[in-house]
Amino acid sequence: MIDTPTRRIILGAGVFAAGSLLMTDGSVAQGPLAPTPACHDGDELTLPQTEGPYFKPSSPERTELFEEGMAGQPIELVGFVLSRACKPLAGALLDFWQADDKGGYDNSGFRLRGHQFTDAEGRYRLRSVVPGLYPGRTRHIHVKVQPRDGRVLTTQLYFPGEAKNRSDSLYRKDLQIRTAKNAGWLAGRFDFVVG
Ligand SMILES: [Fe+2]
Repeated sequence: MIDTPTRRIILGAGVFAAGSLLMTDGSVAQGPLAPTPACHDGDELTLPQTEGPYFKPSSPERTELFEEGMAGQPIELVGFVLSRACKPLAGALLDFWQADDKGGYDNSGFRLRGHQFTDAEGRYRLRSVVPGLYPGRTRHIHVKVQPRDGRVLTTQLYFPGEAKNRSDSLYRKDLQIRTAKNAGWLAGRFDFVVG
């Protein structure tokens, strides 16, 4: 895919000691992360959400948003982009953007912004840090997902066990990442269902 094996090994040797491996049957090696929510044939599409004020087009193509020395809890988020019939979609575009550990967005550059495409099995993988809180919002990651020749889904992903989930009117449980703690980093899983 996009990141070179060399870069992956260097990062893997640091923060992400092993990394999780999303199997094509939907299971995740090294972490019991079931899909959230599980896709059933004819299922609802992933909920759209507001884009918010901080989207910037033309982000760099990369799966690694984590940078050496970056503050915050490292997270590896993996999952599928699926059709409504739960078929994995290869070559789907995902464009992620998020706040840093202090709750700030980079509006002059592209720190913690990046796009990527699902692999031949419909999988994506994002390495980043858990975003910080900023006034009025619970913890969240923004994303746009677009299947080949399909419409753009704009939405946001949320974290379990956050006190502020209850007071953020945008929060939806259906958009919550499933997480598992690893040695020094957090494994996350979310599957998108797009039309
Ligand atoms: Fe935001």
